[in-house]
Amino acid sequence: MAETSTTQPPADDKILVEASEARKFVENILEGNGVPKPNAAIVARCLVAADLRGVDTHGINRIPSYMARVRSGVLDAAASPDVAKVTPAVARVDGRNGFGFLAAEAGMRAACEMARELGVGMAGVRRSNHFGMSAWVVQQAIDAGMISLVFTNSSPALPAFGGRSKLLGVSPIACGAPGGNPGKPFILDMAPSVAARGKIYKAKRRGEKIPLDWALDAEGRPTDDPAAALEGVMLPMGGPKGSALAIMMDVFSGVLSGSAFAGGVTGPYDPSKASDVGHFLVAIKPDLFMSLDEFRERMDILYQRVVGSDKAAGVERIYFPGEIEQLTQEQREKTGIPFVQAEIDALNEEAKKVGKPLLVVKGQ
Ligand SMILES: NC(=O)c1ccc[n+]([C@@H]2O[C@H](COP(=O)([O-])OP(=O)(O)OC[C@H]3O[C@@H](n4cnc5c(N)ncnc54)[C@H](O)[C@@H]3O)[C@@H](O)[C@H]2O)c1
Repeated sequence: MAETSTTQPPADDKILVEASEARKFVENILEGNGVPKPNAAIVARCLVAADLRGVDTHGINRIPSYMARVRSGVLDAAASPDVAKVTPAVARVDGRNGFGFLAAEAGMRAACEMARELGVGMAGVRRSNHFGMSAWVVQQAIDAGMISLVFTNSSPALPAFGGRSKLLGVSPIACGAPGGNPGKPFILDMAPSVAARGKIYKAKRRGEKIPLDWALDAEGRPTDDPAAALEGVMLPMGGPKGSALAIMMDVFSGVLSGSAFAGGVTGPYDPSKASDVGHFLVAIKPDLFMSLDEFRERMDILYQRVVGSDKAAGVERIYFPGEIEQLTQEQREKTGIPFVQAEIDALNEEAKKVGKPLLVVKGQ
């Protein structure tokens, strides 16, 4: 993952956990908190997918905050989403206030099934929760052979352009397409802020500073202190353009889907009330206008032209969107996922609360 942070990982960032162990550990905690077994497997797979891709901000470290919401009764651990057809190509998903991972997975599965038959399928998801890293939903569509758009809204963190109070979500915009080379898909997954808010939480957890252009403190001043940044506002990327993208996520995921919008979503770290997050998911068959082989050939040409383009001074390699994360995944599947001790301790506390085995780290 290309961290925009200038800070270096602390020296103890060397505790490694196998992906399969991380999945089993998280499944156990989820089941101990009342999540049905098949649902626990989906949530654990999506969280560990983020850790594997280097999106550590949206991986299993989220478990303590998610479980706090389950324990306070604002997220229904036992809920499974309900999927209903609106037209042959459109589904409405009611997340029933269960895990966002389940609602988005069901929505994208329905969208892909409709697209396989009709060329395009879309799902509006309401009454959902945080679904972590959008790229796992894009990957789900790629695994089904589909191009996709993956939109979500989120809790207020960004000002509207020119404003100074939190109104818009740091709502990621994501899309993807199968690659000519199956190992080289196109995956764009980006928050409309200079940096994802999870990166500020991660810096706070790890006792690190943040770059001065990420956020303003409560008085509207640039800050390198993650705690002060969380009291203030995140900054949109590209000024009015980032702010407009965040509004676009709200138009589709909130206004259109029927979920909360215009600052009404409750954040994943707030255990006081239901989130009512909305998502909007589209799947498109890649062989609508030409054969699949021709589509793949053209994707490969695009990939080769992008990564083979002339490099700017000081640049060693040009990557396709999603490629850095893909390479991180290949590496972490071999070496394991790195954590710091404080993260392992917080996760083990969750295991102890439900009498489940502690996380086994590599070499233990
Ligand atoms: N569910 C939510 O509410 C929520 C909210 C915010 C963020 N997030 C997640 O946080 C994660 C991080 O978001 P982010 O905006 O910080 O991502 P980022 O800035 O690290 O990456 C954004 C995009 O740019 C591409 N990219 C990055 N560096 C590149 C390089 N050197 N060359 C080519 N392409 C490159 C990445 O592949 C990615 O597609 C995402 O997975 C997002 O879904 C989720």
